[in-house]
Amino acid sequence: KKYIPEPFRIKMVETIKVLTREERKQKIKEANYNLFSLRGEDVYIDLLTDSGTNAMSDVQWAGVMRGDEAYAGGRSYFRLVEAGQDIFGYEYIQPVHQGRAAEKVLFNLLVGSGKFAISNMFFDTTRAHVELAGARAIDCVVKEALDPSLRAPFKGNMDVEKLESLIKDHGKENVGLVVMTITNNSAGGQPVSVQNMREVSAVCKKYGIPLCIDAARFAENAFFVKRDEEEFKNSSIKEITKEMFSYADMFTMSAKKDAIVNMGGLIGIKDNEELYQRVKENCISFEGFITYGGLSGRDLEALAIGLYEGMDEQYLEYRNGQMEYLASILDDEGIAYQSPVGGHGLFIDAKAMFPQIPYYEFPGQALGIELYKEAGIRACDIGSYMLGNDPDTGKQLEADFEFTRLAIPRRVYTQAHFDIMAEALIAIKKRASEVSGYRITWEPKVLRHFTAKLEPI
Ligand code: F0G
Repeated sequence: KKYIPEPFRIKMVETIKVLTREERKQKIKEANYNLFSLRGEDVYIDLLTDSGTNAMSDVQWAGVMRGDEAYAGGRSYFRLVEAGQDIFGYEYIQPVHQGRAAEKVLFNLLVGSGKFAISNMFFDTTRAHVELAGARAIDCVVKEALDPSLRAPFKGNMDVEKLESLIKDHGKENVGLVVMTITNNSAGGQPVSVQNMREVSAVCKKYGIPLCIDAARFAENAFFVKRDEEEFKNSSIKEITKEMFSYADMFTMSAKKDAIVNMGGLIGIKDNEELYQRVKENCISFEGFITYGGLSGRDLEALAIGLYEGMDEQYLEYRNGQMEYLASILDDEGIAYQSPVGGHGLFIDAKAMFPQIPYYEFPGQALGIELYKEAGIRACDIGSYMLGNDPDTGKQLEADFEFTRLAIPRRVYTQAHFDIMAEALIAIKKRASEVSGYRITWEPKVLRHFTAKLEPI
């Protein structure tokens, strides 16, 4: 497959260095085999996340200089609110410092002890905030998502029938919230169709349950809708976005993804003024005054610009093209991944690569460590290692997938970097039967994957 050329040129560069294989072996050991504990400087190609690792444009940097740093009522705040209203069609837009801040501010107003929240799939921090609020998080993705080799459109969708039966089983009064994650990160950056959103919205309305979009990758999702949902083939990304959001009541957004900034988040409330009032109160307590929400004026300005840049169709085509390019090489080599490729990266099927490693010895983490040792590439586990233990029993849960995620930062890496990723995976596949798993020697109670310590078995 042809690499779609960059619709931009490079104006500023950042030097990266390559350590030797011996040095990398030593560094990952010193990091207790936790990729989050490596120093960024010791990584050659950093695919740990696409979150906050993006390259801002010249226009965004110009915006940084124009940011209004007034404590209250700054110009940049109003610019951001207008952008949010224009794109999403919601009346109330509240900036916060990142996605999990939006979750913290909003979720405890909707779910509490003994309640449930249901999602197509919760991302780890989103699940954690539901649980910190005292509720339980339930995933409800379509079954196509569970077969990485099955090439189907919209594998991020909610299983609507199962959603309705879950609501009936738990009682509608006990389900405080339904969350639609677009794109569905944990299922491999897989998109959700507008049609699915309509159906989920109808179920939520029927039972009187609020519907929230976890909107981190809203523009990438709209790109897939335009490409694969017949009804929208002539619609713009902005039109699709507005339609998608019209079916929900509110959204939380990590702006560190599709808004192409290094820090930022948003809460959107469609028209519920009373809820917005409570959001403002929580925001002042946790984040800062409502007109800056934990961000600098310059961040608000760059975010307002980035929301539009992230929806540019030529850019989205190039971005998807990068992933398709890598995927086509992996297809030739018989390396399995969640297919078709997701919006923000490739999710390599580590279970298929290492059938000898059981889920409780973390195949996804093992492949992440091999990639670092092989080529200085840093990826992350999206599997049982990330999922953690059952909050009630403390037992290791088995995830639906054992993925190693190569998350692609926006506008950062070139075709040659993608060739290195492919070569590293091919080399690891050749010696896959020699790779063994890991055990945890220390872990914290919540979100353990960020700081746990491991050792090879
Ligand atoms: N929701 C989704 C779908 C996410 O992917 C993330 C973050 C968040 C919420 C939380 O946002 O990091 O700004 O607080 N995902 C990053 C990732 C960390 O690597 O996928 P945050």
